[in-house]
Amino acid sequence: MNVVVIGSGYVGLVAGACFAHSGNQVTCVDIDVRKVERLRKGELPIYEPGLDRLVLDNLAAGRLSFTTDGSLAIAAADAVFIAVGTPPQEDGSADLSHVLAVATETARHVQGFTVVVLKSTVPIGTCDKVATILRERAEVRQGVHTIVVSNPEFLKEGAALDDFFHPDRVVIGTGSERARAVMAELYAPFVRDRDQLLFMDIRSAELTKYAANAMLATRISFMNEIANLCDDVGANVDEVRRGIGSDARIGAHFLFAGIGYGGSCFPKDVKALMNTGRDAGHAMEILSAVESVNDQQKALLARRVMARFGEDLTGKTIALLGLAFKPDTDDMREAPSLTLVRKLLRAGATVVGYDPVAQHTARAELGTKVRYANTWQDAVAAADAILLVTEWAQFRALAAAELASATPCRVVFDGRNIWDARALRAAGFEYHGVGRR
Ligand SMILES: NC(=O)c1ccc[n+]([C@@H]2O[C@H](COP(=O)([O-])OP(=O)(O)OC[C@H]3O[C@@H](n4cnc5c(N)ncnc54)[C@H](O)[C@@H]3O)[C@@H](O)[C@H]2O)c1
Repeated sequence: MNVVVIGSGYVGLVAGACFAHSGNQVTCVDIDVRKVERLRKGELPIYEPGLDRLVLDNLAAGRLSFTTDGSLAIAAADAVFIAVGTPPQEDGSADLSHVLAVATETARHVQGFTVVVLKSTVPIGTCDKVATILRERAEVRQGVHTIVVSNPEFLKEGAALDDFFHPDRVVIGTGSERARAVMAELYAPFVRDRDQLLFMDIRSAELTKYAANAMLATRISFMNEIANLCDDVGANVDEVRRGIGSDARIGAHFLFAGIGYGGSCFPKDVKALMNTGRDAGHAMEILSAVESVNDQQKALLARRVMARFGEDLTGKTIALLGLAFKPDTDDMREAPSLTLVRKLLRAGATVVGYDPVAQHTARAELGTKVRYANTWQDAVAAADAILLVTEWAQFRALAAAELASATPCRVVFDGRNIWDARALRAAGFEYHGVGRR
């Protein structure tokens, strides 16, 4: 099939490369000239494990191309995927300007029968808006017939290829048999059986994406609240997690306490869903609480450091291990480290940060007030306190003795509960976890 993917960010690039890999002719379109130039040379603008190889292989095979001008490719397309950003606006609602601009551009060039797929996360009713644009601007031309489909993306940054190649499910919102057939053919290589293709109406598909992220964010905030209570009453959240996670009705996933969720999706999608609720006259009370718990949790380590060293951190050097919002990505959007660093700087601390891949994106967000170390050893060498912020595998694997020999510092705050508290204490460290006695 001829496939066009508009927007070459985390989602568009992964979808484009994966559809090319399964044998389609894919054109990826982006307005960012520099990004497109780099992608043409096989240079990736983002860090995502395995994606560089996949892009290079499919470029070389001639199945994948990049352009800033999608006009010809859109005219020849069987399916056009819209995968541009939907960032939050001041009031928390999703900014649809990129999506609607792409819909208008698609309407100008589309020919024949084309399925237009909304892969961006969009509020309920957006597919209808895109369909109206296409009806009014494209279908007036002879022979043009478009069908708009909602196909939200569930990939996780850091594991995006695995998620795309082996999805738990693919949600497809459409009432059209013809569009269903196109989508089923495109996704056939990625699903074990057709039951994983969940066909539903468009609005339910749009809402499913928000409901999924809101549920996951809720689990995180719930466990963080339980962890904070554990600290107050002398219980251990690791044990509580085991105790509840083994209940089949609850399940073991997404029950880890820490310093809050971040990233480009959960914070904005929770806000957007609250906004949708408000517009519909329905206060999303659980989500208000989820957001407020998360805001407080992002600042937890700063509060703990100040409780330990005093409100004025002048003269104290605080080392952060990990800056990205989660491991295996360089994405810093809404990362808990941003809140943490700003609070520590405001209290007068000297902040040294180390991240295996997010140094450059962190620098773009935090500027020069932070010193960026080239190795974790350099980061902790002169620290008064060490804060584990992102659970990168290399930090997980760090032995207490190795850490002890790299620094005279003996105070650690484990924001992701990944370290062995007993081993660290045995090595002379004062260990502070989240909800761990
Ligand atoms: N990142 C994730 O983990 C993830 C997961 C699931 C869903 N989503 C959703 O997918 C969508 C895209 O997210 P992302 O993280 O890939 O965003 P991104 O910011 O990484 O990429 C968006 C891309 O779209 C391009 N763009 C903007 N306007 C354009 C236009 N008019 N024409 C062509 N290109 C244009 C930008 O230059 C950018 O390269 C969002 O709605 C997001 O909520 C993201």
